[in-house]
Amino acid sequence: MRKRRLKKSAIIIPIIIIIIIIGIIIGINFYKKINSYSYKLEKLGYKKDEVEILLKLKDDQIENILKREKNIVIPRLVKQKYFIFENLDRYLKYYKDHEKEKKETIVSKVNVNRDSDYYTNTKPADTSKGYGILVNKYYYLSKDFAPDDLQDVSILYSYGEQKLRKEALEQFINMFNAAKAENITIIVNSSYRTYQYQADLWDNYSSAHGPEWADSYAARAGYSEHQTGLALDVTTYGVKGQEGFEKTKAYEWMINHSYEYGFILRYPKGKEDTTGYSYESWHYRYVGVDLAKKIHDSNLTFDEYYAYYMK
Ligand code: DAL
Ligand code: ZN
Repeated sequence: MRKRRLKKSAIIIPIIIIIIIIGIIIGINFYKKINSYSYKLEKLGYKKDEVEILLKLKDDQIENILKREKNIVIPRLVKQKYFIFENLDRYLKYYKDHEKEKKETIVSKVNVNRDSDYYTNTKPADTSKGYGILVNKYYYLSKDFAPDDLQDVSILYSYGEQKLRKEALEQFINMFNAAKAENITIIVNSSYRTYQYQADLWDNYSSAHGPEWADSYAARAGYSEHQTGLALDVTTYGVKGQEGFEKTKAYEWMINHSYEYGFILRYPKGKEDTTGYSYESWHYRYVGVDLAKKIHDSNLTFDEYYAYYMK
């Protein structure tokens, strides 16, 4: 009899222990599940595929999403390659007024501050960025800003008296020589400009063609990257007006090779609303060789590249 009783408890006790352990495991897993972001996001109403997109965000960003009402526009924005979390509220605001725009466009426009009119909500340009400084209709230079390593461009390479920053000039000469080896001559037509020079230029354009035209081809004083000593307008022999440059072999050569020397086309065709300027086939900007290659390969304007990678 005693033997049998012993046998029974020897079976029951381990079973009870196993059941308790299983219960604890189920309990822990359930606790984990209801505290997981995916569960919380699904509870808020997001579908599985939307949850997957949102889970790619950082923890504090997901917490932020969880504090908001469900909004199907959010995962669609988050999905965009150049989505910047800090801009989320601005994207949503911009979307309200531009519901028909692609999400990609909304992200791009807000990233480059196009949710504000040109020359509003402006900030000082970040001069600590070196050759990567961004100057546009939202980032300005002070009246007395002037680079300290300006050098004269020899008339071998330029029309009129021109200045560029040292490294930009050295790289321009390298580029000039490479083009020359292919019988192409690239000439500096306009480069460093003072604040006052730019002010006069804009006034002249405005008097001749009106302020709108002036704004589409010239920066207002303080907002021109020509003041950085890193921008240059180029031309070649026999070109009529600046627009004529686009039809030359020199233009073709610059499109294909300028980035190898650290220069990028600054105001491309089709990106007028992003850059704030009409297409300028002649206006190049020195940013340094490494950065120029990255910007060139990204297919972004400098404004877009800067907003996503450099801010
Ligand atoms: N033409 C360019 C936009 C400038 O004036 O700086
Ligand atoms: Zn220019």
